[in-house]
Amino acid sequence: PVPMIIDTDPGVDDAFAIVLALCSPEVDVRAVVATYGNVGREQTFTNLRRILALAGRSDVPAAAGSIRPLVHPQAETAPDWHGVDGLGLRGDEFPEPGPADPRQGVDLMADVLLTAAEPVTLVCLGPFTDAALLLATRPDLVPRLGRIVAMGGSFGAGNTRGAGEFNVYADPEAAHRVLTQHDVPVTLVPLDLTMAARVDGAWLDDLALAGPRTEVLVRTARLYRDTFVERHGHDSVALHDTLAVLEAVVPGSLRTSPFPLAVACSQGAERGVTVIDRRTEAGGPPVAVALDADVAAVTAEVGRRIRALG
Ligand code: BDR
Ligand code: CA
Repeated sequence: PVPMIIDTDPGVDDAFAIVLALCSPEVDVRAVVATYGNVGREQTFTNLRRILALAGRSDVPAAAGSIRPLVHPQAETAPDWHGVDGLGLRGDEFPEPGPADPRQGVDLMADVLLTAAEPVTLVCLGPFTDAALLLATRPDLVPRLGRIVAMGGSFGAGNTRGAGEFNVYADPEAAHRVLTQHDVPVTLVPLDLTMAARVDGAWLDDLALAGPRTEVLVRTARLYRDTFVERHGHDSVALHDTLAVLEAVVPGSLRTSPFPLAVACSQGAERGVTVIDRRTEAGGPPVAVALDADVAAVTAEVGRRIRALG
C-alpha cells in the first residue's frame, strides 16, 4: 500500500473522507494532522481523534498542526455548516478521543517522510498552512513526496465571505506556496467538481444502514444537509473532501487537466481566488485540476468503501 499523510480540519466531510482513506486497502495512513479550519484547531484535533476511535484506528498517529494562517491574523471558521463542535453538533456520539501524538504536526509529517521506503502521498483537506510549512521548513524531504492531492479552489463561485473557496481563502499565501511549488505533482480537486458531485438524502440513508458506525457518521451530516437546503435550495450535500481522498487512493478516479495556477493574495475582494496563470515568467509547474468525473460512479464508489466501516 502507498504510504499516506492526511492533513485535515474535521469537519463533517473531512470525517467521511478520513474514514474513506482508512477503509481503502490501497493506502497505508501513517499519520493524520489536524489543522485549524472548519472550527478551531483544539476542536479539530479532538474531532480527529474521535473519528479515528470510531474507525477503531486510534493506532494511527494523530498530531496537532497549525493554529492560524501564515499571514492573515485570524483563522476563518465555518460553524454554520459544521456546527460549533465541527461534527454537526454530534461529536458526543463518537467514542472518546484516542491518544494525541506529542509531536507538532509538521514534525510528525517529517518523521513519516524520513522513514517511508516508498514515495508518500500527502492529502490536504483543510487550509494549506501545514503543507506550506512542511515545504518551507523541510525542502530536503520534498523528494520523498510522491504526490500532493488537495481539496480546494474554485474556478466559478466561491463558498466563503470572499470570492474564494474556503480552504484556499483561509490561508491564500500557504495555498499559493503549495500550488506553485516545484518537483512534486499536485492534484487539486476544486469546488466546481465537488459541488457537481453532491450526494442526496437517499445516498446518506443507505450508508446509515451499513451499521452503527456509519449511522453515527451520517448523523453528523444532518445539520450540514439542512444548511445546504437553506442556502442552495436542494436536498443534497457536497462531501467535498471525499473526492480528494478517492483520487488519492485510486489515482485517475477523476479527470484532470494541467493548469499553471496562482492564488490571489491581495487583501481585496479577490483574496483567495485561484486563477489560471499563463504568464510564462510567472507560472509555476502545472497543477492537475480535477474538473470532471463520472459523478455517479465516483459517489457510488465513495459510499461502497465507507460502508466497510460497518
Ligand atoms: C472545504 O471547506 C471545508 O468547509 C470543507 O471541509 C472542505 O474541505 C470546501 O470548501
Ligand atoms: Ca475540510
